[in-house]
Amino acid sequence: MAFTYFFRDGQTLDLIAQHVIPALKRRRYINVWDAGCAMGPEPYSIAIIFRENMGPFLFRNVRIFASDVDESDRFGVIIACGLYPEEQVKRIPPEILSKYFSPNGPSPGPSPGSEGTSGQGYFRISDEIRKAVIFQRHDLLSLEPIREEFGLVVCKNVLLHLPPEGRVEVIKMFHHALSQGGYFVTEQTQKLPPGTERLFRRVTSTGQLFQKV
Ligand SMILES: C[S@@+](CC[C@H](N)C(=O)[O-])C[C@H]1O[C@@H](n2cnc3c(N)ncnc32)[C@H](O)[C@@H]1O
Repeated sequence: MAFTYFFRDGQTLDLIAQHVIPALKRRRYINVWDAGCAMGPEPYSIAIIFRENMGPFLFRNVRIFASDVDESDRFGVIIACGLYPEEQVKRIPPEILSKYFSPNGPSPGPSPGSEGTSGQGYFRISDEIRKAVIFQRHDLLSLEPIREEFGLVVCKNVLLHLPPEGRVEVIKMFHHALSQGGYFVTEQTQKLPPGTERLFRRVTSTGQLFQKV
C-alpha cells in the first residue's frame, strides 16, 4: 500500500492557495493533474483547497485528474468510494474535517483499503469533493500525458522512484501537458534536473512551485 495521508504537505497546499488559485480562478475550466496520487488523500486534499479558496460556484469548474500506475489495481475503487480510516484523516484541520467529511462508523469490513485497520472509525468525503476527482490508471514512464491544457500539475514523492533519465523525460511531458502559464509543483527535496530548468520559472524561493515559460 503506497504511503500517503490527507494534508500530508501543508506547505504545498499553502503555495497552491497563495499563488496558483488566484491566477487560475477566473478560467472557464480548471484542470489539475495529480500524477502518482496513490489512494486519493492527495487529490482530495487539493480539491478541498480549491473549494475553500474559490467557493461553491467557481469550484464547479474544477476537475482533478488523479492518476497512478496502481500496481495493486485497487486505487480507482478506493478513490471512488471516498471512505478513509481515521488514521488517514487525523492531520486534517478539525474545521475542514467537519465541513467535508462525515463519520461513517466502525470498520466497514473487508472493503478495498481496509486491511489492518479494523476497529478504527471511518470517514466519508462529501459528494461535492468526491465528484471533482477523476481517477485514471496511468504509467508516467509511458511519457504520454493523460490529456493536455492543465492549469496545474502536482507530482509529489513519485519522481524519486524513477530512474534519472526517466525523471527528465517525465518533467518534459508535464511541461508539454501544461497550458501557457500553467504551474508544476513537486516536493521540497526534489530539484528540477539539468535539461528542464529552462522550461520553467521558479515562482517562490520557499517551495518547489514552477510556472511554465
Ligand atoms: C509515496 S506515493 C506518493 C503519493 C502522493 N503523491 C503523496 O505524496 O502523498 C508514490 C506513488 O507513486 C506511484 N508511482 C510510482 N511509479 C509510478 C509511475 N511510473 N507512474 C505512475 N505512478 C507511479 C506509486 O504507485 C505510488 O502510489
